[in-house]
Amino acid sequence: MPKSDDVDGAPPGDEVALRVLSASDAEAALPGLGSLLADVVASGASVNFMHGFSAADAARFWRGQLALIAEGQRILIVAMRGEDIVGTVVVTFAHQPNQPHRADIGKMLVHSSMRRRGLGRRLLTAAEEAASAAGRTLLVLDTETGSAGHALYAACGWTEVGTIPGYALTPDGRPSGATIFYKEIAGA
Ligand SMILES: CC(C)(COP(=O)(O)OP(=O)(O)OC[C@H]1O[C@@H](n2cnc3c(N)ncnc32)[C@H](O)[C@@H]1OP(=O)(O)O)[C@@H](O)C(=O)NCCC(=O)NCCS
Repeated sequence: MPKSDDVDGAPPGDEVALRVLSASDAEAALPGLGSLLADVVASGASVNFMHGFSAADAARFWRGQLALIAEGQRILIVAMRGEDIVGTVVVTFAHQPNQPHRADIGKMLVHSSMRRRGLGRRLLTAAEEAASAAGRTLLVLDTETGSAGHALYAACGWTEVGTIPGYALTPDGRPSGATIFYKEIAGA
């Protein structure tokens, strides 16, 4: 994994560092990105995929993101514990000409062995800062209703808009609702 600067200036001694990956960094990290996403799906999180989704399947998903990262349409931030990728978040800039101020947050993932240590909050803060630095002032996302993500966004000052029942399936095939959140942030 190529090295780059920590995003959020983690204190000395902190074992997890946040980094922005370029497209070539991300290509080199595809196996680790795939392992993390497969772990998160296996843990039961509703993040677009169903059980049986392998690390190789997940690496293919990430490969499909590389061109968008290279074009600057998306920013990928990862949490590194040594050489292991233990968290991700993706900022997607709205491409519509009338929404130059908006971005979406997605693939907010923390490895199942690393949860409730503040890593999700750090990644989300880094994503908000990256969006702000790019001049985006309105952030939008959706998450499984009642999930850990739902709790995280509520705890981090996001505003809940409402819930769409039965929006998606959980990895084991049960219908689950999606809750929409937004957050207004200061632009750079
Ligand atoms: C959602 C997720 C990223 C949170 O990551 P995390 O590192 O565990 O989150 P943090 O430790 O930073 O939690 C920050 C706050 O969010 C809230 N929170 C996070 N997970 C929670 C949970 N399972 N239950 C209740 N509150 C929770 C709490 O307020 C927590 O603060 P506290 O620990 O001081 O009480 C992680 O659970 C995950 O990857 N889940 C599977 C993937 C997913 O659902 N992603 C969201 C898709 S939109």
